[in-house]
This record gives sequence, structure tokens and C-alpha cells, in this order.
Amino acid sequence: METTHRVFVGDSRDLAAIDDDSVELVVTSPPYPMIEMWDELFTALDPAIGDALESGDGRAAFDAMHAQLDRVWAELERVLVDGGIACLNVGDATRTIDGSFRVYPNHARVLEAFESRGFDPLPDVLWRKPANSAAKFMGSGMIPPNAYVTLEHEYVLLFRKGGESRGFEPGADRRYEAAYFWEERNRWFTDVWTDVQGELQALDGGDGEADLRDRSAAYPLEIPYRLICMYSAYGDTVLDPFWGTGTTTLAAMCAGRNSLGSELEAAFVERFDDRVPDVPALSRSVGRARLERHREFVASRREDGKGFEYEADYYDTPVVTKMERGIRLREVEAIESIDADTDDGNSGDGDEYGYRAEHAPLGLGEDGR
Ligand SMILES: C[S@@+](CC[C@H](N)C(=O)[O-])C[C@H]1O[C@@H](n2cnc3c(N)ncnc32)[C@H](O)[C@@H]1O
Repeated sequence: METTHRVFVGDSRDLAAIDDDSVELVVTSPPYPMIEMWDELFTALDPAIGDALESGDGRAAFDAMHAQLDRVWAELERVLVDGGIACLNVGDATRTIDGSFRVYPNHARVLEAFESRGFDPLPDVLWRKPANSAAKFMGSGMIPPNAYVTLEHEYVLLFRKGGESRGFEPGADRRYEAAYFWEERNRWFTDVWTDVQGELQALDGGDGEADLRDRSAAYPLEIPYRLICMYSAYGDTVLDPFWGTGTTTLAAMCAGRNSLGSELEAAFVERFDDRVPDVPALSRSVGRARLERHREFVASRREDGKGFEYEADYYDTPVVTKMERGIRLREVEAIESIDADTDDGNSGDGDEYGYRAEHAPLGLGEDGR
């Protein structure tokens, strides 16, 4: 099986290089309005935003920043297939402007924007980040009433385009082979995620990437990987219009899906080539970690005196439900750059990057299990 991955250096307010109805899943995290690190970027998109911030009009700046994101949401509506899903990781912002502290509720504003475009909101996920220390309450004091709650969660907002779920050809292998384990379902489809930080972190690259990840506010690989497994099948195409360091593309490669990305900052995109040689090993360890975790689950369920009715078709392991029998994870066997520049009018020479990945079914570990 082969997948392709294309990244455009450009502005996602105009995704002309991407055809209508050609994307099954969007997984992304926009720059969060009213978080200071993005002020400059938003001001470059619309200078009125800088003026509003300077004059102390937080409300106007917030609205104007979301007006820029709205233009990207319009493009997502165009390129997503009917029944396609959009997953948006977004956090609210707290900020003092002109002496007045308040929260800017990005999640509510994005939800409203998608709903008004006719997307159906689906139950969302609250991503609870691990509390760091008591220092987070610094400055709040112990005297009522003027202390504020510390925000330690973000959202994964979920929307479906059109009123109906996607259809598949009957018995579609690409869907059944993309099944997830019963216990993964139980963890992934819960509405509060407390288990994300750290899970695949060790696989997220070395020290050299830390600075890049900070500058781009990259999310952990686990977030897009999990969402891709939850909401797409093999052969689908996943788009990230706020591509950053390309975490979504890495996750799509590991998960055996095609991907598209668009990113304003050429420097982020150029750095991706350095990560590509690690993709085969990364994909193997992500897949093996899932199988290993499943074996741990099997052992603990047996210890609890519970049995299994089914055997997986491709792995030497029992599974809880009939639907999991066809699970077949993929690994990247080989990956190469392809010349992705096209005469599509959107991107000139050198501002489009492409990769082709060759996938094989994930084998058993070296110990033969
Ligand atoms: C929160 S970061 C995404 C980080 C990404 N999820 C990762 O893991 O690396 C948002 C990204 O969107 C990019 N961006 C903002 N506005 C954009 C636009 N209109 N078109 C394309 N990219 C944009 C920023 O440059 C930034 O890299």
C-alpha cells in the first residue's frame, strides 16, 4: 500500500491547490486568537488587528482574528467530502488588556462559526493537560473574590459536514482493517483525555526539535494519531491547514493515511525533510506500542477472570469483539521525496513538498510475539 503526502507553503485562506470534496478528514490546531505569541501573525493577516490591540480594544481584536480563521473554515467546507469530519484542537485565552483581565472563549467562537456554516457539531473532547505545580496559582492570593481559575485544558472540537455519515462499499477491508481495539475505543472515545501527554512523547524527536516545537506550539503526535485512527479509514486523505511542524502528516504516515498540509512559514516546512528518515522507525514503534498495550490489556482482563470470544485474524492475540478481528496495523517500509510542484496556480516553484510512503502490514515484534 502506498500513501502520498503534499505540503504547500502558503496561506490557507485560499486552498486553491486542493480540489472540492477531496478530503475525508481535517485534523488541525489553529493559532489561538488572543494568545500573545500569535499577535504578529494575525496582524500580518489583517493590520486592523494590531491597531485594535494597541488601542486596548480586546473584543475587536478577538473578532478580527476569528474573521481570519473564518476564511480558512470556508475553505475546509469546500474541500471536505459530505460526511467528512473536522477535528479542531483549540484553547481559550486569558489576557489582560488595558488593565482588564478576561477569558477570550476561542472554543465557543469556533463552534459558532462551524455551526453557522451548516456543520453538525459532534460531542467534543476536553484535553486535560497535566497540572504542573502549585506555582500555577502564583499571584492569585488567598483572599476572595478576585482570583481566577487557571486554564489547564484545551478542546478538541468535532464537526461533521452534511447531515449524514460517510458511506463505504459493503465489507470494505480498508475500513475493517483500520479498526481499533475495544480498550482503545474506551479510552479514545471518552470526553476527557487525561492520558495524552507523554504517551508517544519519547517518539516525538530529540532535543534539536524542542525549539522548533515551542515556536510552532506543536501538539503531541498522540493527538493527531488518535484522531486519525478514530475518524478515518485506510486510503483516506487527512488535511491540516495549520500544518506547523507537520505533526499531522507524521501521524498520517504512521497511520497509513494520505495527507495534505498548508503552512505560512516556509522555515517550518523546510525542516520536515530532517524528520523523514525517522518515519519508518517511528511508525513501527507507534504500531508496536499499540500491540504491546493490547497484550497488557489481555493479561489484566484474564487476571480479572474474564475471557475472550474472538481471535484477531492477523495477530496472535484475542480480542473482545467481532469487529476487531480484522485489525491490521501498518508500518512505513520506505519513504521518498517526490516532485510535488504543480502548475496549479497556487504555488510557485519550490513551495510545494511531496513524499511517497510505501506501507506494509505491521509485523510481529522481533521476539516473534
Ligand atoms: C498552533 S500552530 C500548529 C502546530 C502544529 N499542529 C504542529 O504540531 O506543529 C499554527 C500554525 O498555523 C500557521 N498559520 C497561521 N495562519 C495560517 C494561514 N492563514 N495559512 C497557513 N498557515 C497558517 C502558523 O504559522 C503556525 O505554524
